[in-house]
Amino acid sequence: MTAPLGAGALRARKGGARLAMLTAYDYPTARALDLAGLDILLVGDSLGEVELGYDSTRAVTPEMMAHHVRAVRNGVRHTHVCGDMVAGSYATADAAVASARALVAAGADSVKLEGALIPQVEAIIAAGIPVMGHVGLLPQTAESYRRHGTDPAEAERILADARALDAAGCFAIVIEAVPPELAARITAAVAAPTIGIAAGAETDGQVLVVSDLIGLSPEPPRFVAPRANVHAVIVHTARTFAEEVRAARGEGA
Ligand code: KIV
Repeated sequence: MTAPLGAGALRARKGGARLAMLTAYDYPTARALDLAGLDILLVGDSLGEVELGYDSTRAVTPEMMAHHVRAVRNGVRHTHVCGDMVAGSYATADAAVASARALVAAGADSVKLEGALIPQVEAIIAAGIPVMGHVGLLPQTAESYRRHGTDPAEAERILADARALDAAGCFAIVIEAVPPELAARITAAVAAPTIGIAAGAETDGQVLVVSDLIGLSPEPPRFVAPRANVHAVIVHTARTFAEEVRAARGEGA
């Protein structure tokens, strides 16, 4: 068995081979993505929208997240597993450490949180848990999923947030939905590898929501070109099964 990928090895990839990260929420998908050689599986709070059918990531509770982290952990041998800290679970440094410990107990190798909450990040790292930062569009608090950092003042704030997260010791930083030029500036300014989503190609890695990539999301965002149509495969296979059963030709017939 290959050794699990640690946060230190991932941080050391800055300037080297780019990091490939996908979300994962369940055991069979995690097994497949681990076999495919992904670097990081993020058990993202996008879980709420893409897997559980809620209209916001804010519907996800710490218990739901721990449940899915455990399922993903059970499917992974090599890939790093990062657990997303859910909205409301890291309001203070103490709460952040307790929530991060719960995700590690469920099987996460590291945790991710949104925004430059430096006391929380420092406290979690001091507790021995690696932290991935997240700047730009922050779905837990954003009023809309618009592109962020398009005006100069907001761009400077996002850059400052990324620098602060880097100085606090994050092993990687997600940059979501900002102009490519801003993502490139952040990538050049920080020592941690950056992982972009809807942020152009000038980052140290890329992340996508797995169901958008494989064609399982009902409405994939415009910036993703699905590489397969798993929704159609499921519909076709299940319809064929139903026809076989009704014709008494199915398994067990
Ligand atoms: O929850 C999630 O899927 C995320 C990624 C989009 C980075 O935070």
